[in-house]
Amino acid sequence: MKPVTSRILTGDSRKLLPSIPSESIQCCVTSPPYWGLRDYDHPAQIGAEPSPDQYVQNLVEVFREVRRVLRKDGTLWLNVGDGYARNGGTGNCGPNAIVGNTKRLIQKRNCKVPDCWGLKDRDLIGLPWRVAFALQTDGWILRSKITWLKKTAMPESVKNRPTSATEDIFLFSKSPTYYYDPNAVREETGANLRNCWILGPDANGNGHPATFPRELARRCILLGSRANDTVLDPFGGSGTTGIVAKQFDRKSILIELNSDYSKMCKKRMSNAVQKTLGF
Ligand SMILES: C[S@@+](CC[C@H](N)C(=O)[O-])C[C@H]1O[C@@H](n2cnc3c(N)ncnc32)[C@H](O)[C@@H]1O
Repeated sequence: MKPVTSRILTGDSRKLLPSIPSESIQCCVTSPPYWGLRDYDHPAQIGAEPSPDQYVQNLVEVFREVRRVLRKDGTLWLNVGDGYARNGGTGNCGPNAIVGNTKRLIQKRNCKVPDCWGLKDRDLIGLPWRVAFALQTDGWILRSKITWLKKTAMPESVKNRPTSATEDIFLFSKSPTYYYDPNAVREETGANLRNCWILGPDANGNGHPATFPRELARRCILLGSRANDTVLDPFGGSGTTGIVAKQFDRKSILIELNSDYSKMCKKRMSNAVQKTLGF
């Protein structure tokens, strides 16, 4: 079996994406940092913008370059999370925040309701759809919204609303017709795959605070690419997209800003074995 090539670039996606040739990538599977949530310890990190409208603009910039590097029949699979507008206080927001052992940006921001979109204290921001509409306006074709229903939802100490147990995955295309293999992943009954995916977290955390499950990456990669195609993740994290790409015989390019995480990507990807079916 011919080994597939995997590249891991360390740095800011906005600076490194321009080095990738146009129309060389079949599919992009990615999850950017969520706005105002975690601190990835780098001045160029996305997610630390003072307000969410600047975050949306930064993502539009990144994904404009992604659109350039995608083949004409390529797709983007984008997992992005929501957040609440909050004003000071304690709890999981403000200077006295109880944040467990995860470094959180909301502490640093000192939680002021951002001055945009008419947001008020405790408003759910609706960020996934705001990002989706901005990408649509920038030229992407929005083809599907998949609900990821989490088997194990993160506990929340809330008593005035239901605990959040879902996230969104958007499927975008560059052109009206695009590569999508409906037979690569099907429902257990054999029916066409539905747009609600019930997925649990991977066993054994790897030290990165915000990974998506390998099964999520597996579905996107198999639906959106063929063997030997190249898959891109401009927010590589712990390397989940690259690992699954390698397991299923796809080439990959990952970009990760934080050098500790890019080292983690390299290590985990060199341990991954090609053509492991199922998890
Ligand atoms: C949500 S995590 C991705 C996790 C990944 N899907 C996984 O399963 O491991 C987002 C990653 O984006 C990285 N990041 C933040 N800003 C970036 C930028 N400007 N360019 C490249 N990577 C960035 C962070 O360091 C973080 O590791």
